[in-house]
This record gives sequence, structure tokens and C-alpha cells, in this order.
Amino acid sequence: MTLLEIKDLTQLFSGLCAVSELNLSLDERELIGLIGPNGAGKTTVFNLASGFYQPTHGEIIFQGRNLAGLKPHRVSALGIARTFQNIRLWKEMSVLDNILVAQHFQLGYGLGSLFFRTPRYLKRERDIRHRALELLEIFKIDKFADEKPGNLPYGMQRKVEIVRALASGPKLLLLDEPAAGLQSTDVTELITLIQWVFDQFDLSIWMIEHQMKVVMSLCSRIAVIDFGRLIASGTPSEIQQRPKVIKAYLGDDQL
Ligand SMILES: Nc1ncnc2c1ncn2[C@@H]1O[C@H](COP(=O)(O)OP(=O)(O)OP(=O)(O)O)[C@@H](O)[C@H]1O
Ligand SMILES: [Mg+2]
Repeated sequence: MTLLEIKDLTQLFSGLCAVSELNLSLDERELIGLIGPNGAGKTTVFNLASGFYQPTHGEIIFQGRNLAGLKPHRVSALGIARTFQNIRLWKEMSVLDNILVAQHFQLGYGLGSLFFRTPRYLKRERDIRHRALELLEIFKIDKFADEKPGNLPYGMQRKVEIVRALASGPKLLLLDEPAAGLQSTDVTELITLIQWVFDQFDLSIWMIEHQMKVVMSLCSRIAVIDFGRLIASGTPSEIQQRPKVIKAYLGDDQL
């Protein structure tokens, strides 16, 4: 079953073509990669798929629904969650509150329910808190629930971002360079963690990553873009052999 379908997606930034006529689809329960050189347009694709940008041209269909015109919190409510290349956690809030506040945004609570604390609101609140704490425990960061994220090592902040994304119960999780800035032991742990998340949760994962070890070991399929265009797509071993990919991205010394 197709989960996400990208059709003729194009994004122009005042003359610069960041994404160009991109066609790509992702099935339910797939773990795929998106790679390409710096500035290839990878993050822009995620910004489009999560409602942060509206495409200049083309369509993004998620579970049969066109995402055109939807704001990020609406896209998130439909089941697409993401992490950011540059970690975006609220520094002045605790780890737990970072996760809870994100859920509130997504649920679009009105001021009425906040002031009057309706029973339905309180029940949702309890459920969200319970789920957030459960996820923090699974990720072995529950003891930092009351810490400010800035006090945690980088690797843990990345985990908090993943927990925040998972807390919304997504059908599609977009990870933008989850291994960036991590020590090699943390990278190994992250690979295990992402595989575990994929096995345990009923979702698909689409991951941007520069570290070949991560994409090659996790992804069943990898899309390669260069200058916003799809230049290859296939299994890790297939794409490693494509001359275009080697030239654009992997470098001759990789093979
Ligand atoms: N909001 C924006 N306004 C103008 N130009 C942008 C904007 N966002 C991205 N770009 C440009 O679009 C191109 C693609 O950027 P993007 O961040 O998607 O690349 P990337 O593949 O994620 O690169 P990296 O591997 O360095 O993260 C770049 O030339 C970038 O400067
Ligand atoms: Mg990027």
C-alpha cells in the first residue's frame, strides 16, 4: 500500500531550483533513505512533506490525501512527524514539556479547554503524558525528563527529538540526518534504535543521512538526489554501483 506519493514536486527559491520535478513514492512499513550532496535539496523535500513549505509546483499525497495548503501542525495530525537537521528543542523547557507542548500544538487545543480544563482535555493530557514518559523510558532517557535539553549531550538531544516525533503516533517518520554530530559509538546505538523503532511501531521511516554506514545498514531502498533531481533509486547495493551516484556523491574512493 502506498503511504506517500510525491508527484512532479518542484520548489523554487527566487530563481534557485532546490527541488526539480521529483517523483517518488513510499509504501507502508518501508524504511527508506534519501541521500545526495550538500545543497541537493534533501531537507527542502522534508520541509515540503511536513507542511513547512508549500511547493511551487507538484503534489504530495499522503494516505490518499493531498497535503496542499496544510500547515505543519495539520500535517503532523494526519500522521507525518519529523526531526530537524539542526536540533529544534525549546531550551527553556524541560525534556518532558518539549514533548507535551508539541502534542498540544498538534491537537490544536483551543483556549477554552486550556482555561476550563474540560474532562476530555484532562483525559487527553493524562494519556499524552503517559505515552511521553513511556517513550522516554524506552529510549533510556526518562531520568532526564525534568532536565533542560541544553544540559544533555548532543546524542541525547537527538533522541529527545525522535521521542517528540514518535509521541504523536505517526504513520511516517521523517528523520533529517539523525546521526549528524554523533560519536561513532552513538551512531552504532542509533542504528539499533532506529531499527527497533521500525520493528516495534506500525510506521514507515524516511531518513536523510550523510553517513553511509547508517543508510546502507538500515534502508531497504535509497533515493539519490542531486541539484533537486532524482538521479538514482534502488537497494543499497544497486545505488552503490550506479556511475552517476558515484560521481555525484559517493566519490571514486568509496568503491
Ligand atoms: N528557505 C530557503 N530560502 C532560500 N533558499 C533555500 C531555502 N532553503 C533551502 N534553500 C536552498 O535550496 C538548496 C537546497 O537546500 P537543502 O537545505 O534542501 O539541501 P540539503 O540537501 O538538505 O543539504 P545539506 O546536506 O547541506 O543539508 C540550497 O541551495 C539552499 O541554499
Ligand atoms: Mg539538509
